[in-house]
Amino acid sequence: MFILAATGSAVGLGNIWKFPYITGENGGGAFVLVYLVCIALVGIPIMMAEVLLGRRGRQSPINTMRLLVKDENAAKVWQFIGWSGVVAGFLILSYYSVIAGWALAYVLRAARGLFTGITAEASTAAFGELLSDPKQLMIWHTLFMVMTTVVVARGVKSGLEQAVRVLMPALFILLLLLVGYAMNSGGFSQGAAFLFSPDFSKITAGVVLTAMGHAFFTLSLGMGAIMVYGSYLPDDASIAKTSVIIALMDTGVALLAGLAIFPIVFANGLPTGAGPGLIFQTLPIAFGNMPGGTFFGTLFFLLLTFAAWTSAISLIEPVVAWLVENRRVSRPLAASLVGLLTWLLGIVTVMSFSAWAFEFTFINETKSNGMFDIFDILTANIMLPLGGLAMAIFAGWVMKRESTVEEFGGDGFAYKLWRFVLRYITPLGVTVVFLKAFGVFDAGS
Ligand code: PFF
Repeated sequence: MFILAATGSAVGLGNIWKFPYITGENGGGAFVLVYLVCIALVGIPIMMAEVLLGRRGRQSPINTMRLLVKDENAAKVWQFIGWSGVVAGFLILSYYSVIAGWALAYVLRAARGLFTGITAEASTAAFGELLSDPKQLMIWHTLFMVMTTVVVARGVKSGLEQAVRVLMPALFILLLLLVGYAMNSGGFSQGAAFLFSPDFSKITAGVVLTAMGHAFFTLSLGMGAIMVYGSYLPDDASIAKTSVIIALMDTGVALLAGLAIFPIVFANGLPTGAGPGLIFQTLPIAFGNMPGGTFFGTLFFLLLTFAAWTSAISLIEPVVAWLVENRRVSRPLAASLVGLLTWLLGIVTVMSFSAWAFEFTFINETKSNGMFDIFDILTANIMLPLGGLAMAIFAGWVMKRESTVEEFGGDGFAYKLWRFVLRYITPLGVTVVFLKAFGVFDAGS
């Protein structure tokens, strides 16, 4: 059940929507390689730490950190891990819901047969039309926030886990189908080469920061989502094994999405750096030109919405769980309040694609969707890595060794390897990437 819930949180828009588009914007293979290294050396060790903290505390992240700080005689500042997670979750969900709304809009478009025989130009234009229409975006954003709030309000767990058990494999199979289509699209070798042959001249400090930030985002790390689910993990389950399984499944889905999308990009002469609209511009071409495309297209965007939904639930669960624990608020009231605030903030993202759009430069890269890009950079590239860094230091240096050995279930080879990486490699890696990206090392040049 923990694996299902955590996989539901990890696999989402990050894998299918974000991974392909940021890979396209950051030059392909070299970015993918750095991302994979970050998953292995930063993501997996921190996931294990986060699960461990959650299982030891057995409460919402805020109260878990409060309890652990007391148990371990640590300084109170470590409690900020719980608080910053709540803020990050709120910010992420506000734009995540808008993008999930695009997926909902595409369910309807697919079902109406609008993809049939669609050309690359028509598909790009159709997406642009959605983006520039705040009214449509608001409708879908609202619907998605209502769906999310209702589930969190009811605290439905078992139903969701059953659904993950069936729908995740279905999503996986549809991705395989798309990869099959991509193989015959005429762009497969170019697409695969783009993804897997690294051109190291493309690597800059900003690219590395984006890859590392994405490792946190895609695995739902650094904000307490995995900590909440860790609090349900039975005492005898292996933290190491479950974390590795989740990370592998998550990475597998992302790579499949990349393999489905880039061949279509090349076969149709589309720009790899198309940005956040990439999958919405490319996949309709595939569905529109395959037999049964209306059916498969509808099903695909439904499953994508579902994957986004299970992630969204984990984004507000930490704060709702905390409100319910502490403030004697009912779950429905807590969920509605947080849902309403998130929905309101989401309006900023809705408008950032049209009337409120502005350009700015962040680490040598020009961004054109104003506040949406700022929320994304602030959360994925800054807040989650900082939260994760703090968790690594807390679990690796602040907690007593015996406490972590006990939770881990022994101090065999896996424990020693984990502890070494978590204490030295992970914190050093995250810190160096930050310092480099923010220009601290290049001060004189
Ligand atoms: N991991 C989710 C995705 O890849 O879509 C997004 C996410 C969920 C990020 C939960 C952070 C989080 F806490």
